[in-house]
Amino acid sequence: MIEFRNVSKRFGQTLAADNIDITFPDGQISVLIGPSGCGKTTLMKMINRLVDPDSGQILINGEPVSHRNPVELRRSIGYAIQEVGLFPHYTIFDNVALVPRLLKWPASRIKDRVMELLDLVTLDESYAHRYPSQLSGGEKQRVGLARSLAADPEILLMDEPFGAIDPINRSTIHNTFLGIQEDLKKTIVFVTHDMQEAVKLGDAVAILNAGRVIQFDSPEQILSNPESEFVAELLGKDRRIQILSLKKNSEYASNENVVTLAENSSAEEARKKLLEADQTIAFLLSSAGRLLGRYYLDGERVRSDGKPLHLDRKMDLRETLSIMLETGERLLPVTGKDRKFLGVIRLEHLVDEVARL
Ligand SMILES: Nc1ncnc2c1ncn2[C@@H]1O[C@H](COP(=O)(O)OP(=O)(O)OP(=O)(O)O)[C@@H](O)[C@H]1O
Ligand SMILES: [Mg+2]
Repeated sequence: MIEFRNVSKRFGQTLAADNIDITFPDGQISVLIGPSGCGKTTLMKMINRLVDPDSGQILINGEPVSHRNPVELRRSIGYAIQEVGLFPHYTIFDNVALVPRLLKWPASRIKDRVMELLDLVTLDESYAHRYPSQLSGGEKQRVGLARSLAADPEILLMDEPFGAIDPINRSTIHNTFLGIQEDLKKTIVFVTHDMQEAVKLGDAVAILNAGRVIQFDSPEQILSNPESEFVAELLGKDRRIQILSLKKNSEYASNENVVTLAENSSAEEARKKLLEADQTIAFLLSSAGRLLGRYYLDGERVRSDGKPLHLDRKMDLRETLSIMLETGERLLPVTGKDRKFLGVIRLEHLVDEVARL
């Protein structure tokens, strides 16, 4: 647990932290977001003593950081930043091994750890002996993430660590990151400029402005009950739609009024069942419940489709909505491992979900 108690910090005329009182709970991702210059980086740097406050206290598990040796403190806390800060003349291996070496781990343990971490961030062994200039931006950020985890710190500070990646790769690295956190349960403070990222990654989100914490709440609360005009404005016009990104397809897939058919069913059987159920799409499932195809009514005709579009269970509803809008499909199946059919999502339900707010 990281606690700020009445913490203030001034740089000349600027109050970068104005009497901050906030607690970041163990094992969770706490996200800091707010306009440029509002004090996010300063707040983070006070945790590992890259900056010391003018007044107030910061405690880690009840112990004031001011009692700790700054160098030793920093080695015990993972730190990842936007520019990644990899050493260009070090190989990827040596970059990741940095802190364990400083901590004088035996060479064999370091080797095992580095390889384990590269695997964790989905970079294969061949990357170990490359140099940073031979990696893409997204790959570098994965290495930055691996390095911050190297000494298995309890606390991870991440200052816009995925800021430099394009939206598609960003979504992939988010999922990798959330998968890692599901297992490791680190105490993470994460700074971002991007509300979508905040809402996707944060267990809680702190909105900052001019050195103050304006609201600290679950993403759901922030989106549905912004505390002030300032927060609402920061969330942007599409905050209602953003709330969809909090829900996974797997939680939302429903089997209500869904027509399914056994593997070798004919078009005629499909038509009969669809008319009976007053539905337009039927799914063909194997005996093990795998999605094999679909039949759909197109006016009077029944058409079949052996490779129907399907949604991964781990996707969120916002992604699902945009796929539906792009493809014009109003009902899509959700699948899990081995294409197992889990139910469907209907466009009308997503629209209701947004309208309910
Ligand atoms: N070392 C410093 N000396 C003087 N002023 C500083 C220093 N560090 C930060 N500041 C000022 O303190 C304020 C908060 O800075 P900080 O870096 O914490 O903002 P931020 O929220 O991280 O912004 P950004 O989103 O642009 O990264 C800014 O006005 C900045 O100019
Ligand atoms: Mg900053």
